[in-house]
Amino acid sequence: MLGTGLGGLAEKVERPIVVPYREIPGFPETGVAGHRGELVLGRLEGVAVLLQSGRFHLYEGHDPETVVLPTRVFHALGIGTLIVTNAAGGLSPTFRPPVLMLIADHVNLMFRSFLAGPVVPPEERFPDMSEPYDRALRRLAREVALSGGIGLEEGVYVGLLGPSYETPAEIRMLQRFGDAVGMSTVPEVVAARARGMRVLGISTITNLAAGISPTALSHEEVLEAGMAVAADLERLVRGVLRGIG
Ligand code: HPA
Repeated sequence: MLGTGLGGLAEKVERPIVVPYREIPGFPETGVAGHRGELVLGRLEGVAVLLQSGRFHLYEGHDPETVVLPTRVFHALGIGTLIVTNAAGGLSPTFRPPVLMLIADHVNLMFRSFLAGPVVPPEERFPDMSEPYDRALRRLAREVALSGGIGLEEGVYVGLLGPSYETPAEIRMLQRFGDAVGMSTVPEVVAARARGMRVLGISTITNLAAGISPTALSHEEVLEAGMAVAADLERLVRGVLRGIG
């Protein structure tokens, strides 16, 4: 799953088959700049991949079920490993954006559940969330970063509904909860774990969060910062794919 401004990887897929969302039942069109709205199937580093270019956010007004529909579809297609990327604001004052952050865990502050309602088999009623982000995949990502000279922080991602950025007071509160803040990823990871998929999560810390940053936040800044580390992110993901393959 490619986060804001990170869609470039989709163009590097070998022997691509592109499926626009409008051809997929139940998939709405995406409306956020930096998110395209298509699936790209093919190969990267010798591994069969399906790239989701453009995700559905709660802040767009989508139901929780719509937000997790792609994850459920990917699992039903036989996909066992999910790599999620996103753009996030840095809560940790030691982060120097733009920089990549391996997601160690998350906090759901979206005040929504993504699995409420009738159980959707093979999901269970009360899925375990004790290791949302796979330990072995995190170790692999750290090794790839170390050997490739890629700067990689690690920390807890706090997911909020958005779409307004946070206030400085909210950021002071969130600093007790985690290391990065964003508006995505939590739904997909919860749905993936409920289906037993292995998950690797990587945030691009595009900015210091409100109140820590000396300047006002803007989506343009987020897109620009995302592009600045896109090459690092691509190398990291490719290295992880080689390790998996
Ligand atoms: N807050 C929330 N989401 C974000 C931010 C932020 O500062 N930067 C990029 N996505």
